Amino acid sequence: MQSPSFDDVARRRYDRRSFLHGLASGAALATAPWLLPARGARRALAGAPASLSFESVPASTADELAVPPGYVPDVLLRWGDPLHEGGPALDLAAQTAATQAAQFGFNCDFIGFVPLEPGRSDRGLLCVNHEFTSRSEMFPEVGDAPTARQVEVELAAHGVTVAEVAADDDGRWALVPGSRSNRRVTATTPCRLSGPAAGTPALRTEADAEGRTVLGTLYNCSGGLTPWGTLLSGEENFWHYFGNAPAGDDLAARSRERYSARTGRSAYGWEAHHQRFDLGREPREYHRFGWVLELDPFDPGAAPVKRTALGRMCHEGAATALADDGRVVVYTGDDSTGEFVYKFVSAAPYDPGDRAANRDLLDAGTLYAARFEPDGTGRWLPLRPEGPLADWTQADVLVHARLAASLLGATPMDRPEDVEVHPRTHRVYVVMTKNPGREEGDGGANPRAHNRHGHVVELDEDGGDLGAESFTWNLFLLGGDPARPEDAAFYAGARAGVDPVSCPDNVAFAPDGSLWIATDGQPRTFGCNDALYAVATVGPERGRTRRFLSGPRGCEVCGPAFTPDGRTLFVSVQHPGAGRGLRDPERGSTWPDGDFPRPSVVAIRRADGQPVGA
Ligand code: FEO
Ligand code: CA
Ligand code: CA
Repeated sequence: MQSPSFDDVARRRYDRRSFLHGLASGAALATAPWLLPARGARRALAGAPASLSFESVPASTADELAVPPGYVPDVLLRWGDPLHEGGPALDLAAQTAATQAAQFGFNCDFIGFVPLEPGRSDRGLLCVNHEFTSRSEMFPEVGDAPTARQVEVELAAHGVTVAEVAADDDGRWALVPGSRSNRRVTATTPCRLSGPAAGTPALRTEADAEGRTVLGTLYNCSGGLTPWGTLLSGEENFWHYFGNAPAGDDLAARSRERYSARTGRSAYGWEAHHQRFDLGREPREYHRFGWVLELDPFDPGAAPVKRTALGRMCHEGAATALADDGRVVVYTGDDSTGEFVYKFVSAAPYDPGDRAANRDLLDAGTLYAARFEPDGTGRWLPLRPEGPLADWTQADVLVHARLAASLLGATPMDRPEDVEVHPRTHRVYVVMTKNPGREEGDGGANPRAHNRHGHVVELDEDGGDLGAESFTWNLFLLGGDPARPEDAAFYAGARAGVDPVSCPDNVAFAPDGSLWIATDGQPRTFGCNDALYAVATVGPERGRTRRFLSGPRGCEVCGPAFTPDGRTLFVSVQHPGAGRGLRDPERGSTWPDGDFPRPSVVAIRRADGQPVGA
């Protein structure tokens, strides 16, 4: 791709510097120079979407899923829906591990649509993450600690679903129940560890002396799809499942602390039923979670693989793209307060003509952590056993990646969530969800104190090459309400008509190049339900956010994913009625069926069959 023009670079520098100056001086938003409309650059306009034409839906506290006039939302897969012909339907009072393992899991998050054939938009394999479980929203009877049966059901409700789905002539989607592709990966499915850390002593346990096979995957949040049609699934807050961490001052103990291990009972209480979640008895099981899992949806018998070369952290997701020379680049945010943004670059290039040759591409390469300088430049710091890490093994660098990246001087961020690469400009969008505890801005890529609303950083790899080791960066969006000066909100130069965004989380690009931003946290900041917004990143509409969807009460919106033709948008509605139990119609949720809340995937289309958003 072409290098950025001078005009383009100058415009971006101007945006950021003006913004930082404004923050320091307390300049009134109405006269702030960074609110001038962005000057168009040729390269930028080449990536401009056709204008977004839908009518914004209003912010809402209603227990309903709202989309603009002319759009049709169909609930496609609900928690507990059977995935196989004749499979068990959800029976709240009679759940077992076996029934749950044959059903759609709980709390759907990332969605990847893999066409059955390249470019096909009416039939595909839907790969969906199931992030976590909530006993109070799953079981009619809940005590202080889980029963043995509840633990087994919860283990089976985690992980990933692969489901073949097809659209009829009217564009209405349904599960293909007889498909041999339909499968569940759960928290007990054997998964292979591969890459530089596989087999290292830190990954060996009593049950797995080789350190190469883990039972299951946990807290699968966001993810990505590879060019060869596999799912990458980020294991995020795995620390919730482990209790009784022992004290110490060796590397493993310091690492447990940095990775939030609890010294007392875990949030889930599983350690009372399964020794491997008790860190006092099996401290190394902790090291076997926090990886990126790769799953081939076209091979239902294949074991999922944890790719250790991508490092161990609270992976929000895994966004994949190609460097100019064809090497595979995977961006990932580590979603904890003050943690880092990473990217992995494979050693070998992607081979579009040989799927088997790409199978283990993610096992060799370089993991980098990002350092953002206040002057708008930045560097990718390679995590290798050299310099301050000269005494480390490569395996320890990967297992304890947070500690390694700190020693290199990576930049602590305001909870990095999803990352996406614009399909045409190749600019990289990095989402920070929020950090209200930040005492003061860092003068750079995390500029606001008490960052309640989160922000989005726009990153240009040097030379436009995603394999580069340096970059420039700019602020694209600072969430909050532009009508409230104290929010210091910024919408990439859009002066008016934006729909306010808070707590951005998952992002996705539509085929037309518009950016779609899902939120997780607006009830606490705006007092309205979480929602999904669309925004142009280039052209005259740059920065003008529009609310496309408002979710039901208590949910977060996640996993936006488009079919290749852009005519269907899949969205996950995660934890409707969160914290309110199964039956609290006054304050909780009864979505989608009017009885009790069920996390679900929704397929949204335009009634006239045209692309969504256009
Ligand atoms: Fe699972 Fe960072 O959201
Ligand atoms: Ca998320
Ligand atoms: Ca989140």
